[in-house]
Amino acid sequence: MLNFGKLLAFFLSAVLLFNDLGCGKQKEEGVTISFLDTEDKNGAWAEVIATFEAMNPGSKVRLIEGPASTDTRESQYATSLLARDSTYDLIYLDVVWVPKFSANGWLVPLDEYFPPALQEEFLPGDIQASTYAGHIWRIPIRSNGGMLYYRKDLLESANLEPPRTFEELVDISQKLQNPPDVWGFVFQGKQYEGLTCVFLEILRGFGGDVLSPDGRCVFDSPESVATLTWMRDAIFQERIVPEAVRTYEENESLVSFLSGKSIFMRNWPYAWKVCNEEGSEIGGKVGIIPMPHVPDQSSSSTSGGWGFGVSQFSRHKDEALKFAFHAARPESLKVFARKQGGAPSRKSLYKDSELVALFPHYPELYEVLIHAQPRPVHPRYAEMSDVLQRHVSAVLTDTETPEGAVREAAGEINEILARSS
Ligand code: GLC
Repeated sequence: MLNFGKLLAFFLSAVLLFNDLGCGKQKEEGVTISFLDTEDKNGAWAEVIATFEAMNPGSKVRLIEGPASTDTRESQYATSLLARDSTYDLIYLDVVWVPKFSANGWLVPLDEYFPPALQEEFLPGDIQASTYAGHIWRIPIRSNGGMLYYRKDLLESANLEPPRTFEELVDISQKLQNPPDVWGFVFQGKQYEGLTCVFLEILRGFGGDVLSPDGRCVFDSPESVATLTWMRDAIFQERIVPEAVRTYEENESLVSFLSGKSIFMRNWPYAWKVCNEEGSEIGGKVGIIPMPHVPDQSSSSTSGGWGFGVSQFSRHKDEALKFAFHAARPESLKVFARKQGGAPSRKSLYKDSELVALFPHYPELYEVLIHAQPRPVHPRYAEMSDVLQRHVSAVLTDTETPEGAVREAAGEINEILARSS
């Protein structure tokens, strides 16, 4: 017969031994904080991590480099957090993950550590996107807003003003392009989160939206049909957008623009630095303007961005939070701006003389960021975005009509809303 007492004693000593080993190891090596982001381009994270480690001897920070697409990184984080796993102490959160991750109980509320007086120092859109259900969950690091990049040199030499409306974008493209060598307009057309961002900018520029301010689905509208019709026609009718756009994420669009193969590009702020870097063929020839709109509407920029949340399952929450605040210091944000071209989340840096000397477009960028609009704020946003991505994508491949896509997508979004009420 099993001796329960003996078994229990064995189990307890094993646990103690295990803990002891764990603690001993930690004392020797100190605490290591881990998080996931994309590849550390130009060593920006490495520099910010090095200053943190120098200021906090014994602490280590480990960046796990993951894939470029936000969707894939979300799945990677979600898989780990669903298993209540402590691999990631910090979650480097895309703005759109905040409602889902906080509603699932994966994040530590930060109200106590990140009070309103401190929040004031950051761009209002970033704070709004970090707040959900009355709590703040995220410390903003990189701000983002979509905008239109254009070849200033080409427009100027043809005596053309930058476009304000979709019609002007088509006209100018047709005047200056020479497909298949040079196309009018490129954007993120692949079926992933980036497509939802661009689609929303065009939709809002047409006066439409997906949800109303009180959370009802308003997608089944003539504006949605007009948006999808414009996007489809830009490929098949007006021929200002290459069919290959359906495979483009941010970097593929940028590669086309950088190599002079397109005149207009929709992208995020980081692209400015790459366009003007030493050795760039288009250095000094690039302008930025807000996205186009129809004559009686105004332009719209989708707000994006990245920031730190602390995992509920981290065993080193204090240290994790300390690093998150370190990464949000003005000095660190300047490293990200200089090395990655990331737009800082702190308002004051848009007037910082060193940064403005490097990035003379900061006044225009600030205007874009300050007016950027969030994607639908909902714990089931990822499902809604998935619906939009599928149907927009089907229109871009001409396998669904704009009318059919709008009807179907609106129906599916209504089902998602019904399931969550
Ligand atoms: C950028 C934005 C992010 C968005 C993603 C889409 O990284 O900051 O919010 O979801 O692009 O590709």
